[in-house]
Amino acid sequence: MQDPTTQLSNAFSKAITTAFGDDYASVDPLIKPSGNPKFGDYQANVAMSLAKRVGDNPRNVAQKIVDTLDLGNWGEKLEIAGPGFINIHLKADYLVSQLAAVAADEHLGLDQADGQKVVVDYSGPNVAKEMHVGHLRSTVIGDSIARVLDFLGYTVIRQNHLGDWGTQFGMLIENLIDEGADAGTHISDLKTFYQGAKKRFDEEPEFKDRARKRVVALQGGDEQTLQLWRKLIDESKLHFNHAYGLLGVLLTDDDIRAESFYNDQLPGVITALEEAGQLKESQGAKVVYPEGFKDEQGNPFPMIVCKSDGGFLYATTDLAAIAYRMNELKADRIVYVTDSRQSQHFAMVFQTVLQAGLNTTGAKLDHVSFGTVLGPDRKPFKTRSGDTVKLIDLMEEAVIRSQKVLAQKAADLTDDQQKNVARVVGIGALKYADLSSDRIKDYVFDWDRMLALEGNTAPYLINAYVRIQSIFRKGDIDLATVDASKITLGHDAEKALALKLLQFGNVVQSVASSLEPHRLCTYLYELASGFHSFYEKCPVLKGDVAPELRDSRLALSALVARTLKSGLNLLGIDVVERM
Ligand code: ARG
Repeated sequence: MQDPTTQLSNAFSKAITTAFGDDYASVDPLIKPSGNPKFGDYQANVAMSLAKRVGDNPRNVAQKIVDTLDLGNWGEKLEIAGPGFINIHLKADYLVSQLAAVAADEHLGLDQADGQKVVVDYSGPNVAKEMHVGHLRSTVIGDSIARVLDFLGYTVIRQNHLGDWGTQFGMLIENLIDEGADAGTHISDLKTFYQGAKKRFDEEPEFKDRARKRVVALQGGDEQTLQLWRKLIDESKLHFNHAYGLLGVLLTDDDIRAESFYNDQLPGVITALEEAGQLKESQGAKVVYPEGFKDEQGNPFPMIVCKSDGGFLYATTDLAAIAYRMNELKADRIVYVTDSRQSQHFAMVFQTVLQAGLNTTGAKLDHVSFGTVLGPDRKPFKTRSGDTVKLIDLMEEAVIRSQKVLAQKAADLTDDQQKNVARVVGIGALKYADLSSDRIKDYVFDWDRMLALEGNTAPYLINAYVRIQSIFRKGDIDLATVDASKITLGHDAEKALALKLLQFGNVVQSVASSLEPHRLCTYLYELASGFHSFYEKCPVLKGDVAPELRDSRLALSALVARTLKSGLNLLGIDVVERM
């Protein structure tokens, strides 16, 4: 179904072409929810920009649009205001029929895309390295994007581009041997393991020498070396899966397509670049010059794809991965979620694909970049001793802290229930703090803010959901029995809430196109706030509320609860029924 924003946009587009001609078919009517009943339910702001193009004044342009516009039986009235805003008032029964359609649909009224395939490349931790706070962002943002696209009916293929290849495996394997690789023990702490290997590599010439030889053996396919290498991968996967489990993300072992998977496709990448006439030599290395990239002196900036010793690079692997995703996975769109320090890398890879004609399927390539997590000193977030913060530690602390915050609420829950609530709220708060800030920007990590029960936080949203559940519990009413077609919108707060509910579809669509989950967070926060002001002004269960009005308000509340739950789910955040 079409939400009001889309429906209005279509009606306005039609009016604009009728009034001004087909040249204006692609003009965006700029429909926005007004946010204030004084200015109607929605506003169209197109007249101001259109005026310049058609050479008339904005109010005349607005008048022409209004005269031509056909809102069928759903428009109440139109007003032209100020310099040329068009205020749109919609009929209450139109809004109610929209709400009923949304409520009747398992996808809350969202149209389903027909099977377009989207690859989402996210998380991508590195073998034998501890996942840190930086991986939180890729994992959480990527997972939310995957969920949103899936909810919209895309076929989502998650790809975990695990870093499992490179010269560092020489020292890691040697360290594994020295620590007793065969003893059947597990690496308890990846961070200590990696740092230990690195320290020995830097300080012990004999170890360094062994490590170097080990790299050669690994690249040469020596079976014993490969076994040790696989052990490192399996050990690391245990750690990653533990983190994914706690975090509640969708990634499984099936989503792993690690760097080494592409090893035997790398020579083919070089051949393809050569055949496309893109391969150049620079100081013994094989390079590509992606158009538009210059070094500091203004000279063409190369992307190395094969070192002078024959070794391949991160970029070579990414070129092979793109080919695989286009040709084997048949992706229509490929989305990469990494921090903004890799922006140039992806821009160069995408440009290379373009100029070498390797994009055989016309797939759309997107880099979803994000900023850094900062500490209170506004420097990259570190532990007190200046170490990187382990993701696992962060999650554990989130749960402990949320337990403390929730203790003040003193709900009558069993110990187990309390633990579960603390986990859901704590992990939810951690993820939400990350998702709710504009991803491009850095954000300051702040426990108190993310766990606050007021404000744009997960605890606030989960609490709003719990509150609605408790209304139904108090009234002893089954949430599934309410009838959205019986909703009446007599009070301003009811209408405002209805309008907010009807924006859900448009917001989710905008997350899918912009790949910016914070838009959904902002929306859910506004929805929850809208619910709270509705609930203050419009009693639901009080004795003097007529039964029809009570049922209408219950139906409205039920739809808010469902929308909150679905919305949070799209962010990868759970809800609880009481807290
Ligand atoms: N392993 C990389 C890192 O930790 C992330 C991989 C991103 N995906 C890719 N196709 N390059 O930075």
